Formats: sequence, structure tokens, C-alpha cells
Amino acid sequence: MAPTADIAVIGGSGLYALLDGTAHELETPYGPPSDAVTIAEVAGRRVAFLPRHGRDHRHPPHLIPYRANLWALRSLGVRQVLAPCAVGGLRPELGPGTFVVPDQLIDRTSGRAQTYYDQGAVHVPFADPYCPNGRRALLSAAAGRDVTAVDGGTVVVVEGPRFSTRAESRWYASIGGTVVNMTGHPEAVLARELALCYSSIALITDLDAGVQAGESVTQDEVFRVFAANTDRLRGVLLDALAALPAAQDCVCGHALDGITLPFSLP
Ligand code: ADE
Repeated sequence: MAPTADIAVIGGSGLYALLDGTAHELETPYGPPSDAVTIAEVAGRRVAFLPRHGRDHRHPPHLIPYRANLWALRSLGVRQVLAPCAVGGLRPELGPGTFVVPDQLIDRTSGRAQTYYDQGAVHVPFADPYCPNGRRALLSAAAGRDVTAVDGGTVVVVEGPRFSTRAESRWYASIGGTVVNMTGHPEAVLARELALCYSSIALITDLDAGVQAGESVTQDEVFRVFAANTDRLRGVLLDALAALPAAQDCVCGHALDGITLPFSLP
């Protein structure tokens, strides 16, 4: 029987052990996803876990097969996606260890395939890139575990894989950025293009270069702070899965209403 799931978690380093389930290798018209997808039942829901960078962290942020990842999840039946990630802080008052449930995004990536619709006239609404139900589930799960999570904030998504210069970082803060990362886009827009709910919980692992006067951000620092907070993040995610509404009853599922698609969705 073909594997199925309702909800997916696309997780970064440290969350690979989120679910203890069965691994499935999938194929898509865009190639294979980042890695095998693990499916297990959590709180009565079928949940798929996809390691964003691959289990051995083989895909750097700019080369993650984003289109294959979202397509593979939709082909399983997934309609709601939770996307935890590591971010750098752009505000001195939000230090490492703080969680943010963002409500906005600024795309500063370049050269990534960021649409499924290279033919036809398919223009999805994206004013509010994150699902309101997913955001609510993440915030209430965090509150229930006494984990402070900031409600709202703008993620600036940079191309990477390098970290930002101080001037870039100060500029991201000046244009309204709250946090910066390398993977939030095109993940968010590709989910919207498939009419999936998508929400994110971002863990601040470092203060970005424009905020702190000292050393530049290092990969070691990012991995160390993420690892130190993995248990808290795992708990919040598991509770958020249980708190998500059973049906997709928000605007995200209507993103393609009235649009003629050049092909059928899985
Ligand atoms: N991910 C974690 N910290 C980051 C930073 N400072 N810049 C970009 N991506 C990040």
C-alpha cells in the first residue's frame, strides 16, 4: 500500500530523531527529496518527517531540492507543514535560545528554482506567507511548555552558504528583518504553490554580524546552540502536531482556487 501522511515536519539538524517510524524513499518529477521520509502516528495524525539537509547534512541551503521536497510531501497526502529552522538574530533584545514564530518573510535569495509554474499564468497570493492555524498551534504549544516564543517577526532569507557581512546584516535589520536564515525560501512559496499550509518556528542560534561587535557568526556556534535547544523544540513540535486542526480550514488550501493549472497536482 502506498504510504500516506496528513502533516509533515521539515526539520534541520538535531531533529532527525523526532519520529520513530518507517522510512520511505520517494521520487518526484523534480528528482528525489532531500532524504527518505519517515512516517509515524503522533496524536492520532499521520506525520511525515523530512530532514531538510539530508540525514548526513549533504545538501547545503542553496542546493536543497526544495521543489522535490514539497512535491513529495503533497504526494503522500500531506496538507499541513511545520518547518522548524535555525536563524540568526537581527535584534539585540532577541538573543540566542529565543524562539520566533514568524509572520513575514523577505526573499534575498538568488538563482534558486522558486516556482512549479514555468508555464501558464499561475500567480499565487503570498502577502501572508505563513499559515494562521499553524502559527497558532506552534504558539499555543510553546506557551503550554513555558517556552517563550515571539509571536510574529520577519525572516530575511539569504542565499548563503556564507554568513552575512556586517553591512548586509545592519541593512536587513533596517528594512524590518527580525531574524535571518538560508532555508526559509523558496520552501514557503513552494508550499503555497501546492496549496499546503506552511508555518515555521525559528530558533535564534546567534546574533548576526551587524548586531554584535565581536567575532563573525560561526557554524560551530549555530550547531551548538541548536543542539542545546533541541529537546525544547522537539517538545513544542510534538504538541503543535496535536494542536493543529484536523482539517485544512484556512486560506492556504484555497491558494489555487480559480486558477487553471498547467498540470495536475499529486
Ligand atoms: N542560520 C543560523 N544563523 C544564521 C545567520 N546568522 N545567518 C544566516 N543563517 C543562519
